Amino acid sequence: MSRIAYINGRYVPQSRAQVAVEDRGYLFSDGVYDVIPVHNGHLSFADRHLDRLDRSLAELRIARPMSRAALLQVAREVLRRNGIRNGGLYIQVTRGVAPRDHKFPKGVAPSLLIMAKRLKAPAPDLLAKGVAVVTMPDQRWARRDIKSISLVANVLAKQAAVEQGAFEAWLVDHDDMVTEGSSTSAWIATAQGELVTRPNGTEILPGITRSVVVEVARELGLTLHLRAFSRAEALAAREAFLTSSSNFVLPITRIDGKPVGDGKPGPIATRLRAAYLTVARS
Ligand SMILES: Cc1ncc(COP(=O)(O)O)c(C=O)c1O
Repeated sequence: MSRIAYINGRYVPQSRAQVAVEDRGYLFSDGVYDVIPVHNGHLSFADRHLDRLDRSLAELRIARPMSRAALLQVAREVLRRNGIRNGGLYIQVTRGVAPRDHKFPKGVAPSLLIMAKRLKAPAPDLLAKGVAVVTMPDQRWARRDIKSISLVANVLAKQAAVEQGAFEAWLVDHDDMVTEGSSTSAWIATAQGELVTRPNGTEILPGITRSVVVEVARELGLTLHLRAFSRAEALAAREAFLTSSSNFVLPITRIDGKPVGDGKPGPIATRLRAAYLTVARS
């Protein structure tokens, strides 16, 4: 059975969903997106994701394609038509279709695409063994806080990581400080067991999972520092992990080929994963 996508007012088989060649998303990456996790048939943290989508749209001065209530209605219909209970909902808005010209076109309606996919079951030993990351220079643009569909630097980083046998790339700025992963937020727990993750700013995407884990960690009474950490600190950490809507909290057990701590998933990441999933599923 073909998946069903919503595109510009119509529900269509995804394999046949089309955009115009002059869509500015296609020509210029002139658009934004967001991905909302789906747990037990419900959109988790929908308000936070839609707030972030609104912010991304406002930063690029792209009009909202429809009200939040209407967007949620379409989103739920896409989930229903695809029979998705656990997975992710993808929303993309571009500036619309117009003859190719860099400046904003006048009187053009934004294009809206909504798709959904099932959550792939994690490989059996992913959680038991944790994953590897490799560090590399962050070559993205200067406004990483906007969830732009222009992801070529992220794509290249992930591919380089995969080619080195790693799960994710950890991107490092000019001062050798870790910004984030190619599609995930980056965390460490120091030798003293204190959590560290970079504060929000233009250098990173404000991850929604990250924001929930920050709250959960505080509720658990863990010490948390919102500050940048260096590659050297990451290598000396007791634990490391990544967060994202599709990976939740995933322990990292190797950085640049070196074991993190004792090389096994640590108790803090394991505890935070369970606590995050309780909130996401509630
Ligand atoms: C660059 C980047 N950082 C972090 C994240 C994690 O964000 P979230 O927790 O909202 O999924 C993503 C997710 O797509 C991302 O692309």
